[in-house]
Amino acid sequence: MAEDLQEFLTGLDAEIRAMGDWGAVADYIPELGRVAPDQFGIAVALPDGRVLTAGKAAQPFSIQSVSKVFALACVLGRIGEQLWLRVGREPSGDRFDSILLLEQEKGRPRNPFINAGALVVTDELLTGRTPRQALSEVLSFVRAAAEDDDIHIDKAVARSEAENGHRNTALAHYLRSFGNLNNPPEHTTGTYFHQCAIEMSCIQLARAGRSIAGLPNAPQMLSPRKARRINALMLTCGQYDGSGNFAFRVGLPAKSGVGGGLLIIAPGRASIAIWSPGLDGWGNSKMGTLAAEKLAEFTGWSVFG
Ligand code: DON
Repeated sequence: MAEDLQEFLTGLDAEIRAMGDWGAVADYIPELGRVAPDQFGIAVALPDGRVLTAGKAAQPFSIQSVSKVFALACVLGRIGEQLWLRVGREPSGDRFDSILLLEQEKGRPRNPFINAGALVVTDELLTGRTPRQALSEVLSFVRAAAEDDDIHIDKAVARSEAENGHRNTALAHYLRSFGNLNNPPEHTTGTYFHQCAIEMSCIQLARAGRSIAGLPNAPQMLSPRKARRINALMLTCGQYDGSGNFAFRVGLPAKSGVGGGLLIIAPGRASIAIWSPGLDGWGNSKMGTLAAEKLAEFTGWSVFG
């Protein structure tokens, strides 16, 4: 099985590169706009401890919104159910950086993966902590989950977003006006921009997802109940207004980032990371989604059977 899968991944890399239909990199964070779109990598962590790879699987990239999964895991570990008083768990149907529903729903973001919800999660992470301590909690979580200390924050990306992150700044202030932000908005956004600027390779990211996938060799980072709930949120909200399309095409819980990364969970079977920096119209990796679709078809790993 692993041999067939390795052969498939090698072929997939060649197929994706031959297509040349990469999508466009995010340029609203200027530092990300400098990344070449024509790149692809994939890593699949299996229950026996092996990590199969193809393409640029060892190349670090900016994980961006994939970090929201790890921040959420930290906060759920700390305060559990209380988080849901501040943030919902329904898909929003709007873009990841939309402010629309926030007014209608009185400052309680729809879910922890849209930017407004992720800012609330990061704000919660700051309770009783300095921004530096909160950031170090997320980074330590990711390093422990991947069992790899060579994971770092790209400060140039964080700075680039801080200098241009007017929408997130607006969201943070808007949340604060509804009483749903406890820290000075610049502390919350500053921590959030740095958390998003964590750099990881597909190999590191696939390893970090093993505990969410409940793989037997994974470090114990989460209770099975929390992992189940994070998977449910990834399936319903992980690709924002593209979540229905992703569930239809791939059928697996996943979280995207505008750096072109995807963390995909096949519960009990595999933790998968794909990177291709060109994006589709929803801000999710274009070739990454196609590769995930082909992988799910080949393996039959869709949670829908
Ligand atoms: O807040 C932002 O806009 C970025 N730091 C992260 C957004 C993101 O990754 C959306 N995902 N596809």
